[in-house]
This record gives sequence, C-alpha cells and structure tokens, in this order.
Amino acid sequence: MQIITTKKELQAMVEACKATGKTIGLVPTMGALHEGHASLVKRAVNENNVCFVSVFVNPTQFNNKEDLAKYPRNIQRDAELLETIGADFVFAPTPEEMYSEEEMNTTFDFDFAGLDKVMEGKMRPGHFNGVVQVVSRLFYLVQPDKAYFGEKDFQQLAIIHHMVEHSSMAGTFGNLQIIDCPIVREASGLALSSRNERLSEAEKKTALAISKTLFASLEWAKEEGATVADVQQRVIDSINAIEGLEVEYYEIVDQTSLLPTDTFDHAIGCVTVYCGPVRLIDNIKY
Ligand code: PAF
Repeated sequence: MQIITTKKELQAMVEACKATGKTIGLVPTMGALHEGHASLVKRAVNENNVCFVSVFVNPTQFNNKEDLAKYPRNIQRDAELLETIGADFVFAPTPEEMYSEEEMNTTFDFDFAGLDKVMEGKMRPGHFNGVVQVVSRLFYLVQPDKAYFGEKDFQQLAIIHHMVEHSSMAGTFGNLQIIDCPIVREASGLALSSRNERLSEAEKKTALAISKTLFASLEWAKEEGATVADVQQRVIDSINAIEGLEVEYYEIVDQTSLLPTDTFDHAIGCVTVYCGPVRLIDNIKY
C-alpha cells in the first residue's frame, strides 16, 4: 500500500492505473476509521482492480470550528487498518495541498433541488457545499469507476447521487457509479461513527437508546392507526426522556425527496442527538 500526499503524485498513480486498463474504486473518508469504513473498503477492494482511499478532514464542511478541531485524527492507525484490508493507495493531503487559500475561503452555492435545505442542511449551513466541494474534487482527481459511501449519512448520499446524476456536474464524472453501503452497527445496535471515539464508556451506554428507539419505532409504525406524526413525536419524547441525550431533530421523510411525508411507504427516519457534547446521527428505513 502506498501513501500519497500530493495531487501530482495522485494523478500520476491514477494515470498509470488507467493506462493499464485497471478499474478504480474510491472510498472517501475523513479518517478515524472503524469497521464501517472497513466494510466500504473491503467492498471496493473486491469490486475493482485498484482501491484508493482518501483520508482528509475537510475543513470546508465544518461550520463549527470546535468540531473541526476536535475531530479525531490518527493517520498511522488508519494506514495500518487499510493495509490489512487490502487498500492499494491512501491519499492523505494537507488542507493547503487540497485547496488554494481562495478555495478554502470561498463559499460555494451548489443547487441540490432542496435536498440540502432540510435536516443536516438546516442545522449545519454550508455543510453540504463543503462536502460536494471535496467529493467532486476527489472524483476529478481519482476518476473512479465506483465510489463508496455509507448510508449512515443518508442525506449526504442523496446529495452525492444528485450531484452525479442530475446537477450541472452530472455527466462530468464519466460512468461513475455511486455505491450505497448499509450502516454498520456494534452488536449493541449503536451505529459506528468516528465521533463515538469521543464518547466516554458511560455515554456510549447512554447512546444505545438512540438505535433501540429507532428499532422500536418500526413496531410503533405497525400499530393500528399509527400516524407518521405520532411515531415521530414518540421517538423524540423517548430519546429526550433519557438523561444525557437531547434530540436536535427527528424527521420521517421520503427517501427520495427528503421532504416530510405522511406515509411510511418509502420513508426514512433521520435523527440527530447530542450525547453530552457529542453530536450523533442515525437513521432507520420504514
Ligand atoms: O462522510 C464523510 O466522511 C465525509 O463527509 C466525506 C464524504 C469523506 C467528505 O469529506
């Protein structure tokens, strides 16, 4: 496995792969890798001739400086994990290598047909512009055949699909296929997240109530006369009743439009919860 830190080196490697007709799988990450990322990388390794993994804590997608500063970073441990699961190249640039000063400070305003205006987009203004800025840059640099993303960030995935299939950028990434990968959970149900590293053991136990409540809500949705509004409120009340947890939002929306829905058909519930100071997200499909 080779670790690359410059765009020039990266492009040379990509060109060499393309010249020999190799298919490329890309797994974009912000590092602090866990079994969830590992499942994406394993799939990319299996489905492509070459697997590139980017490890880059993208400053332009953080609207909270403290969150950016506290985001866990450990490239050594990440590289060890990636080596054992068969990644071929790790691209780990500095922010200065990735962006010019102007790019770092420019606010892009992409059009995502409203997908970026709800839930995470409402709570974290500018977040998805930063995500698209870095993901589109990675797509241009790596020219992957397939790119792998986890469904835990369901809204991010919807926006990336929109970017590749419908936005003004559609068609500029060749035949790129976006591969949706299911949420990976601990045996306890807790969705794996790099942010879990910031939870104390006690907070980790408390956080279990999030996935437990989401799974329970699948049953609540089947109860006679259950409405989306009732189930939504019951989830919020149940999580808020646990000391140490505070729901920022729980919305049951249509899986395609991400707009509120009054039916459980094709619906997904997306939650953001503060567990102490740590902001956790999770979701469940009805
Ligand atoms: O999901 C993430 O880890 C990040 O948002 C991504 C897609 C790597 C872009 O920085």
